[in-house]
Amino acid sequence: MREKRVIIVGATSGLGRGLAERYIAAGCAVGVAGRNAVALKELTAIDPERVKSEVIDITAEDAPRRLSELIASTGGMDLYIHCSGILKEEKELDISGQTDIVATNVTGFVRMLSAVYRYYRDDKEKRKQKPAIAAISSIAGIRGLGDLPAYSASKAFDSTYLEALRQKADKEGVKVTITDIKPGWTRTALLDSNRRYILEMDSAVVVNKIYNAINNRKPLSVIGIRWKILTAIERSLPRGIWRKLHIQLWRDNQ
Ligand SMILES: NC(=O)c1ccc[n+]([C@@H]2O[C@H](COP(=O)([O-])OP(=O)(O)OC[C@H]3O[C@@H](n4cnc5c(N)ncnc54)[C@H](OP(=O)(O)O)[C@@H]3O)[C@@H](O)[C@H]2O)c1
Repeated sequence: MREKRVIIVGATSGLGRGLAERYIAAGCAVGVAGRNAVALKELTAIDPERVKSEVIDITAEDAPRRLSELIASTGGMDLYIHCSGILKEEKELDISGQTDIVATNVTGFVRMLSAVYRYYRDDKEKRKQKPAIAAISSIAGIRGLGDLPAYSASKAFDSTYLEALRQKADKEGVKVTITDIKPGWTRTALLDSNRRYILEMDSAVVVNKIYNAINNRKPLSVIGIRWKILTAIERSLPRGIWRKLHIQLWRDNQ
């Protein structure tokens, strides 16, 4: 464990919450954020000395200022983990649902990731500490998905943004490790409880794999061996074939 001070945005539920609990158990100083104040209180109650929190809505303009306050109360930041994200039904291409996805998964993502990058870049001392960034995108971003146009496109955006930041850091001599985490379907509050999703995984198992990928400072981690195989096939398919594939991503429970 290299990181002593870990900030997790989107720590109130699912994968982010699981990661927060892992880093707290590992003895790190952990700063947690999200909109759900009750869940944040539950996390700080684990160890009020070591766990600090801030209510942050990444779609709001004050999110970077609130992030700075959280970093200060945590005592600094060696690792930033971005877990915030939303998924919505897109069958009818409802505009407000799709723009909500973009506001959180794209605009909110850029807002937070650029604030974190600047935080590391603009301070020579922090740069020497070889800090890290990890963000959860998704296997959904590998190809455009007909059932989830805005969600799959938002996740492709996130991965491309991370790749671009990596190149920018190299160019600017910022020694930051950037990890793009791509889980497959994982049973969390993100998923519809009335559906079964293809190759669904258990949340605790996925949290463990993400934790290891971050600690090993991998640039890219597809979570789950079956998803590694499937995504390799997806990437290799010609556009014309991909278009004709009507993959059933989920089934409604009987
Ligand atoms: N579960 C899957 O199958 C799966 C697969 C691939 C990728 N992912 C990605 O993994 C990430 C975590 O998802 P999850 O499965 O753990 O879902 P989850 O249990 O629903 O957690 C989502 C997290 O995002 C936070 N969030 C949402 N909107 C936010 C906002 N405006 N400001 C700040 N935080 C916000 C939520 O916190 P608040 O509600 O407290 O704000 C919550 O902590 C997401 O980016 C998701 O797209 C999930």
